[in-house]
Amino acid sequence: MIQIDLSGAQKFFTKAGPDYAAASRAHEMLTSGSGLGADFTGWLKLPKAILDTELDRIVAAAEKIRSRSGALVVIGIGGSYLGARGAIELLRPVPGKGDPEVFFVGNGLSADAFCDTLEKLGDRDFDVNVISKSGTTLEPAVAFRIFRELLKKKYGAAADEHIFATTDARRGVLKTLADSNGWESFVVPDDVGGRFSIFSAVGLLPMAVAGIDIRRVIDAAIREFDALDLRSSENPAWQYAAARQNLCSKGFGVEILGCYEPSFRFMAEWWKQLYGESEGKDNKGIFPASVEFTADLHSMGQYIQEGPRNLMESVVRFRRSRYSCPVPNSEDNADGLNYLSGRDLAEICGVAADAVREAHIDGGVPNLVISCSARDEEGLAELVCFFELACALSGYMSGVNPFDQPGVEAYKKNMFRMLGKPGAV
Ligand code: PA5
Repeated sequence: MIQIDLSGAQKFFTKAGPDYAAASRAHEMLTSGSGLGADFTGWLKLPKAILDTELDRIVAAAEKIRSRSGALVVIGIGGSYLGARGAIELLRPVPGKGDPEVFFVGNGLSADAFCDTLEKLGDRDFDVNVISKSGTTLEPAVAFRIFRELLKKKYGAAADEHIFATTDARRGVLKTLADSNGWESFVVPDDVGGRFSIFSAVGLLPMAVAGIDIRRVIDAAIREFDALDLRSSENPAWQYAAARQNLCSKGFGVEILGCYEPSFRFMAEWWKQLYGESEGKDNKGIFPASVEFTADLHSMGQYIQEGPRNLMESVVRFRRSRYSCPVPNSEDNADGLNYLSGRDLAEICGVAADAVREAHIDGGVPNLVISCSARDEEGLAELVCFFELACALSGYMSGVNPFDQPGVEAYKKNMFRMLGKPGAV
């Protein structure tokens, strides 16, 4: 389970400290279904549900893709891609031998980025996993139209066999297309919103194609959600949610999520969407930002140390590193680094993290350490369950509905009007 160290935030809390009674009430609202958006809390039971429904079919589809294709093109945006990308980059930053490469498109409208991906894809055999709960989001819909044409050119009548659609069980254009063309399809459950859908086929199919053991992920997630049902201030999700809300009430309105693993970058993007879209409404919310350490200490470090004092910092640390990389000894010690000889890079990184923490706290930045067991399937499950639950609790504690995103529609309305979509005003 995730462990939290709040000692680096202690001196910044209000006198009363984190409000665990409020965290307890939020947890009760969530599990009893009495809170706002209760129709979208299916993610809490998703690992158990997927085990009984689509998991075997997802594994079989992934095996089919792995055996015949050099690449999988995942088309989706927001919650329909960030979880899978975060997980794959965290656990498989370098594709294993024989693993298909996973490309992500349809998460923007850049013609250049799209064509760059086509170039990287080259003439490899590929499959497409189009993911859209609504089935109507413009960015993935346009990318999918282009990829359907490419598939037809490459595979002719067999093109439909290379399309896997993950969408609503009953509604939407994508569902209609999938049914009429016979594409293998998977479901985004009605009671699960995009950003909470990583343990459905949305996250699991791309992860399995990339070589992640999704059965291990799901087994661990089931254990994790059970453990996180703990109703006490020992619950790390309560601690994180209550600490954030307390610090926010003291004017720390920006949270930077840091990690010393560059492979965490897209997990941080996933986290930003989860927290930004869940909490940023009704003129409330903590602004989620992210940094990659130690690289960003040489770019953002100055701001964190001495800029406006409205930042809190949460740092994800892995208790076990995957590899060992000792610093070699040098006979002439011309670079003066022999004091590090024989010490592992992972140990040096840990010391750097402690030093940064001390400096930032001294500089007035409350620091929370989120410690995860390892960069593996179980660690991924720990992080996802913890961040999802804490996000829901934190949202309820601040009085918002963490499961809707009405503000996202504003730009779409303008864009459709400007593009001349029939019926748009
Ligand atoms: O979390 C969410 O609900 C959003 O980020 C959606 O996932 C995103 O807008 C994509 O929507 P859809 O899956 O309907 O294409």
